[in-house]
Amino acid sequence: MTVYMIGAGPGDPDLITVKAVKILKQAEAVLYDSLANDVLLEYVPEDAELVYVGKRAGEHYRKQPEINELLIEYGKKYDKVVRLKGGDPFIFGRGGEEELALLKEGINVEFVSGINSAIGSATGIGLPLTHRAIATSLTLVTGHEDPQKTEKQVNWDYTADTIVVFMGVGLLKKYVPKILQYKSPDTPVAAIENGTLPNQKVILGTLADITEKKIKPPALIIIGEVVNIYKECEELRSKME
Ligand SMILES: C[S@@+](CC[C@H](N)C(=O)[O-])C[C@H]1O[C@@H](n2cnc3c(N)ncnc32)[C@H](O)[C@@H]1O
Repeated sequence: MTVYMIGAGPGDPDLITVKAVKILKQAEAVLYDSLANDVLLEYVPEDAELVYVGKRAGEHYRKQPEINELLIEYGKKYDKVVRLKGGDPFIFGRGGEEELALLKEGINVEFVSGINSAIGSATGIGLPLTHRAIATSLTLVTGHEDPQKTEKQVNWDYTADTIVVFMGVGLLKKYVPKILQYKSPDTPVAAIENGTLPNQKVILGTLADITEKKIKPPALIIIGEVVNIYKECEELRSKME
């Protein structure tokens, strides 16, 4: 009666940990999200139950209490259940809520960290999120807050050298003006769509024009001078071709 909360990594199925694969190979049931790559389900034994609990746009989407109930149901039914989440379970992954729900029902939970999508996607394209003398602080924020939260609870550190916005495509026009109160309009911005996947796309802009760009979710919006390091490296790479 253990639920293993596993991070699937940013998207590329090779970016999952060896420990996670070992557990997937023994799973009796797997509850997985839309951002966890389906290819990873090939590791799971044939007779295991696979339960999709994702939230893709346009689909009936399961609310968090419903997912918690399913986890409790499967946690009671089987000895080894995997909860497979995109990136890392505890970075905008609601892993803490699921952990609490399971423990309250007396179900053991164990964790395997995954590569967070911001770290994995930025590193994957050679974009350093910190850089000596240019960026000594990094803030990961969500652009899509729980609608039940009050504005006061939104606690962004706009002054960090690098800001990475998760779930931030739909509300770009809402938060970019706020960031502009702290940063110059020339501040470079990179949006990474489908990071580490074959359909990955990098869209470049500045704080002044990023709201005009066509960006499709899932995407990460990276704001800060580190984007210029990426651009410089890309130029150098193109000269090597
Ligand atoms: C609910 S959060 C999950 C974050 C995840 N727990 C993590 O550690 O990366 C979903 C958001 O993560 C970002 N994301 C996840 N995977 C991504 C990818 N491969 N490319 C771009 N953005 C991604 C997007 O901003 C997406 O809207």
